[in-house]
Amino acid sequence: MMKLSNRIHSIDRTPIYFGNDALVKIDPFIRTLQTFHHAMIRGGQDAAGPPVGPAIFILVDPDTRKHCLPLLLQHSDVMAGAKVMEIEGGEQSKSIAKAEKLWNELLLAGAGRNSLLVNLGGGVVSDLGGFVAAGYQRGISYLNIPTTLIGQADAAIGGKTGVNLGHIKNQVGFFYAPKAVFVFPGFLNTLPEEQLRSGLAEVIKSALISDAALWRKILKHPVGALLKMPVDRGLWVNLIASTIKFKNKVVVQDYRERKLRKALNFGHTIGHALEGYSQTGHGEPLLHGDAVAAGMVCAAWLSHRKTGLSSEDLNAIRTYIGEGFPPFPVNRLSSPDIMEIMMHDKKNRNGQFQFTLISKPGHPLINIYCNHEEIFEALTTLSGWGLR
Ligand SMILES: NC(=O)c1ccc[n+]([C@@H]2O[C@H](COP(=O)([O-])OP(=O)(O)OC[C@H]3O[C@@H](n4cnc5c(N)ncnc54)[C@H](O)[C@@H]3O)[C@@H](O)[C@H]2O)c1
Repeated sequence: MMKLSNRIHSIDRTPIYFGNDALVKIDPFIRTLQTFHHAMIRGGQDAAGPPVGPAIFILVDPDTRKHCLPLLLQHSDVMAGAKVMEIEGGEQSKSIAKAEKLWNELLLAGAGRNSLLVNLGGGVVSDLGGFVAAGYQRGISYLNIPTTLIGQADAAIGGKTGVNLGHIKNQVGFFYAPKAVFVFPGFLNTLPEEQLRSGLAEVIKSALISDAALWRKILKHPVGALLKMPVDRGLWVNLIASTIKFKNKVVVQDYRERKLRKALNFGHTIGHALEGYSQTGHGEPLLHGDAVAAGMVCAAWLSHRKTGLSSEDLNAIRTYIGEGFPPFPVNRLSSPDIMEIMMHDKKNRNGQFQFTLISKPGHPLINIYCNHEEIFEALTTLSGWGLR
């Protein structure tokens, strides 16, 4: 059992409980939190007392209701009387309309300032749930219990919450940290293989920007072989723990993404645009990690052009990702549309595109400007990538 303690700033503290016994840590944590809440109410001006409705709300989607909620309730007496709120699965649930629906549900159920929202799901549930918690009555407490690899390795950690505006990813949101994160790798046993692959992209990203030795270790295991390995022990637990530790370290040092945290955007500048583009009726919508994987191929190409990434490292990245992830058909017709989406990305200022690139694995460089031609060329390298 590993406990990562994350002191974001002097008054905010987000512990991360990781391991096969993470679920048994939930009840003691909530009991402490509730005692704290009640003490706050008794001692403060708000004499409203405990919430009128249920104190705890659990946000799920249909898959996590089926696969994860029973196990959670088995380990938690405290959550026995919780109200379960369900959203549809998938990226389209990350919307203002869905947040408004949930705010109304909380209101109707009598949720108060001392209510607790528990996000049980992947990145969609934690991004939306965190957003809802941040907005409801100017902020209620929430916990993240991530159930996908993307959630466990990335999305549940770091306090970034948000929803999409149309096809522009995460355009509206808050930095609003959960009270704690409970990472139980066993939840990943029911995750479909393509979702595991999608999460692997974030693990690869983390290795490429932080840990050359970890990247070399990943290279020894082709994606297909990795996906067949047991996910709640051995190499996988090692990969997830390393990724969490690195993300946690970055978030503690740069919570508001002024500098260091931008390194985590490796592959995301183009990846988010590809993900958004794929949701506008052009083929099958891309999974987040598959889009990031394609984005990393482009970022590696830009790194080769601009920041000295060697041809060997570029080829290793292209081959590993190309053989393990689905190809994305970018052509001369789609590239301008993808660039148009990139223009709206909040990270690109004044028509300039800022990238995180690497000079070699483990060495990220932030705020590297790339021009239209370079990006266009990077996008077109995807056409010759992988299986096609
Ligand atoms: N806030 C952040 O820092 C951050 C970081 C990375 C990604 N994200 C966001 O995360 C989202 C992607 O997250 P995701 O890939 O987890 O998507 P997701 O939440 O949509 O989950 C993927 C699918 O897996 C299903 N699922 C979840 N847990 C399961 C389980 N244990 N067994 C079986 N099925 C299960 C879900 O129902 C869903 O259909 C994107 O919106 C992305 O922008 C946020």
